[in-house]
Amino acid sequence: MKNIALTGFMGTGKTEVGRILAKRLGYIFVDVDSEIEKKRNMKITEIFKLDGEPAFREIEEETIGAVSGGDRLVISTGGGAVMRQKNMDNLRKKGIIVCLAASAATIMHRTRGSKDRPLINVEDPLARIKELLAVRQPFYEQADIMVDTESKSPVQIADEIIEEMKAYEKSNG
Ligand code: S3P
Repeated sequence: MKNIALTGFMGTGKTEVGRILAKRLGYIFVDVDSEIEKKRNMKITEIFKLDGEPAFREIEEETIGAVSGGDRLVISTGGGAVMRQKNMDNLRKKGIIVCLAASAATIMHRTRGSKDRPLINVEDPLARIKELLAVRQPFYEQADIMVDTESKSPVQIADEIIEEMKAYEKSNG
């Protein structure tokens, strides 16, 4: 089976679901944001603050390029990674792209209190989430498999992804 690249907005459960998936499949779990933090020896929030978002996007692209070459991986990407075609191309080389979806209200609920997400650490996070979701939706829709995470546990979502992957591989060779 190919690598699995998890995409989707912040708070859709990519990291938690990714860990479960990797365990179930005997794959290695790679979290792109954690790789970036290790590489820069800084938290994502600090990278945004000190270097700015464009610099973060460059490191993100480099990191995705480097990890996508591996095998038997579940790769969890940051919510904005889909915005660069290069990232999608790299992830697709050896992998299937799975997007996790949730409504703005659910994302708001799941990310409340999180100080680690600079883009939504603003006065009106719900408005920002809606705004970003609207811009990103067409990019998320480029995924090979779309999974709705609304009212489902991470284990249920992981199971659903495995089923969808089997069906996808059957019909796409
Ligand atoms: C971002 C999502 C974050 C992280 C950074 C930017 C985004 O990752 O990469 O804060 O642009 O949506 P998560 O989706 O894992 O929270």
